[in-house]
Amino acid sequence: MDEQGTRRPIIAGNWKMHLGHVDEALAFVRRIRYQLNRIEGVDRVLCPPFTVLAALAEVLRPTHIGLGAQTMHWEDQGAYTGEISPSMLAGLCQYVILGHSERRTSNNETDATVNRKVHAALAHGLIPIICVGEDLVQIEAGQTDTFVGGQVQAALACLAAEQAERCVIAYEPLWAIGTGKAATPAGANRVIGLTIRGAIAGMFGEATAQAVRMLYGGSVNVENIAAFMAMPEVDGALVGGASLRPDFVELVRRAVMAW
Ligand code: PGA
Repeated sequence: MDEQGTRRPIIAGNWKMHLGHVDEALAFVRRIRYQLNRIEGVDRVLCPPFTVLAALAEVLRPTHIGLGAQTMHWEDQGAYTGEISPSMLAGLCQYVILGHSERRTSNNETDATVNRKVHAALAHGLIPIICVGEDLVQIEAGQTDTFVGGQVQAALACLAAEQAERCVIAYEPLWAIGTGKAATPAGANRVIGLTIRGAIAGMFGEATAQAVRMLYGGSVNVENIAAFMAMPEVDGALVGGASLRPDFVELVRRAVMAW
């Protein structure tokens, strides 16, 4: 069965705290925009720092390239110094990364706050890219399935099935992020297919589990993207470091070819 058939692939670039000056972000995007826009059959998304979202929204408006934020608060407004709300993002971008492990580790993001943010994002028409993944200690203790499955259940708690279907889940094992040591494609396929789709099937049923798009993230690059995309459960990638280079375009091209 061609499970991927109904799911549209997506490659998202997570710029993290890079290219956050308007001049450099615009220069980079102008360099890749034309070629990236021409690649069909895939949602291609750039997730830059907040400081350049508005400028990039402007230059990407005539294209099919999507924009995303890297986090947000769940409230619309209030006394939350330094935070950005879903309603502020709604006019600027279409996606928002939630629960990235760097934010879970360094910014107190918890399963409970990720869930609040998922609800808020969907209420504002934003597509959440929800990150889950285990660390080395957990993998060595054989806890990947319970831990990652638990993260998924918590993130999607109290959603309706049609809301869950709008979410994108990114499986990013912590030991693979920024290390140059990606998971094996078969290993990512297993966790995504069994653990993550399994958790969603348990909550919402098999049809919803088959509809949700799931990405692999962690040291994805132009050389290994095809092997991940060839896996039946992997619908795309969340790309960090390799999204900051012009050959991100080639990475997206290879992703579509391998799909
Ligand atoms: P990386 O980062 O591709 O640089 O490993 C991925 C991520 O953190 O989303």
